[in-house]
Amino acid sequence: MEKKFYIKTYGCQMNELDGQQMGRLLKGSGYVPTMDPEDAEVILINTCSIREKASHKVYSDVGRFRALKLKKPEVVLGVTGCQAQAEGPYLQKRFPYLDLVIGPDHTAKIPEMVGKALLQKSSQAALQFEKPENYRFLNLLPEEEENQTKAFVTIMKGCDNFCSFCIVPMVRGREVCRDPEEILLEVQALAEHGVLEVTLLGQNVNSYGVGRHAEDSPKKRSQTPIMSFASLLSCISRESKIERIRFTTSHPKDLSEELVQEFECNPKLAKHFHLPVQSGSDPVLERMYRGYTRAEYMKKVVALRKACPDMALSTDIIVGFPGETEEDFARTMDLLSEVGYDFIYSFSYSPRPKTTAALYFEDDIADGLKQERLQRVQELQERLTWEKHRSLVGRVLDVLVDGPSKIGGTLSGRSSQFHVVHFEGGVEDLGKILPVKITQAGPNSLIGEKNG
Ligand code: 5AD
Ligand code: SF4
Repeated sequence: MEKKFYIKTYGCQMNELDGQQMGRLLKGSGYVPTMDPEDAEVILINTCSIREKASHKVYSDVGRFRALKLKKPEVVLGVTGCQAQAEGPYLQKRFPYLDLVIGPDHTAKIPEMVGKALLQKSSQAALQFEKPENYRFLNLLPEEEENQTKAFVTIMKGCDNFCSFCIVPMVRGREVCRDPEEILLEVQALAEHGVLEVTLLGQNVNSYGVGRHAEDSPKKRSQTPIMSFASLLSCISRESKIERIRFTTSHPKDLSEELVQEFECNPKLAKHFHLPVQSGSDPVLERMYRGYTRAEYMKKVVALRKACPDMALSTDIIVGFPGETEEDFARTMDLLSEVGYDFIYSFSYSPRPKTTAALYFEDDIADGLKQERLQRVQELQERLTWEKHRSLVGRVLDVLVDGPSKIGGTLSGRSSQFHVVHFEGGVEDLGKILPVKITQAGPNSLIGEKNG
């Protein structure tokens, strides 16, 4: 009988892609996926540690899946991803029945470690960071039956920035850039496979080409020089059949003029830029170690809008960072109106292990006040987003149709600007980029009709 695996993934797109890669690796070893953990012989919890709330999910999940292990002792239960890296030894001690604890640098070893766990019946861990020169990027393509029109492609891993609130450099290690030729080959293969849109992933794609590179890659053989991020975008656009390119995430301090100019001349770039600002107040930005002021950030926003006037902008906001006064918070609120973001992701600050903020700054904003500020930010943005949506009525947007819609029509997809658009259509429209005329604006999405 076929053995089955179940993977539960939390967190960002990087983790989502890691989860997909784990699945493809296990399929390569003869396992088949299941949506039901009760049915599985291998259960992996692919964790996130970016905020305290996310990191706590692993405890309840491990407890829940233990019940399954008690019924079926041969089940292999593993924790992967950032929380495995952050707390591996603690997790093994607290949950001695955990079979696997695997950090993000060791995803490729999953099939081998599952095999060992089955044979040796002992807990396995892989938590040390790989040296940059030994780091290998996984590049298993989607299987035929995955039938994807959109795909993620990793272009770099890790982060060298050490923003004072952020655990990422501690759990994903230092920056390593992937060989440009390898990236191009993957995008070309995805395009051949029917993928129309790729999202290039990295913790800070704007510093691609600046940091260390994975030496153990075809770069040495092909002699492809490492290039700037803007040149990489241009090269992928020129040399592959891919129709639309997105990327995430970008650090404002590393957003180059060259990248801004790329938006003027490259029609394959999606008209959306996610540019996390975190706060609108200079003293807070300074304590966050972000490396830019509000004025410098605004200059880049103005330059992007000049290069591509109908570009959508989005951002990340943290409220309740240590020492955030009412005045600091008011600066964040008025930045939202000044920029006029299309949407934002907003979070209430939580201290993360080993970060500068957790070690040296007192978490002095009461939970109630953090929640109140979060609500104010979200209410303001809801109004701004809805206004933006209303201004799009009558416009024609190019929508990549990716599936049946939950509301308003029969199909839905994403515009180049990343709006969710619902419209009436048939199966023949699936997996295409179609012009859709917007007829109605909702708070979270748009409704339209096929144009022509
Ligand atoms: N507390 C709250 N939000 C955080 N983020 C990162 N670290 C923290 C933290 N300690 C947010 C930032 C980042 C996004 C991915 O998560 O806004 O851009
Ligand atoms: Fe974290 Fe800052 Fe790196 Fe982003 S740039 S992953 S916020 S340390």
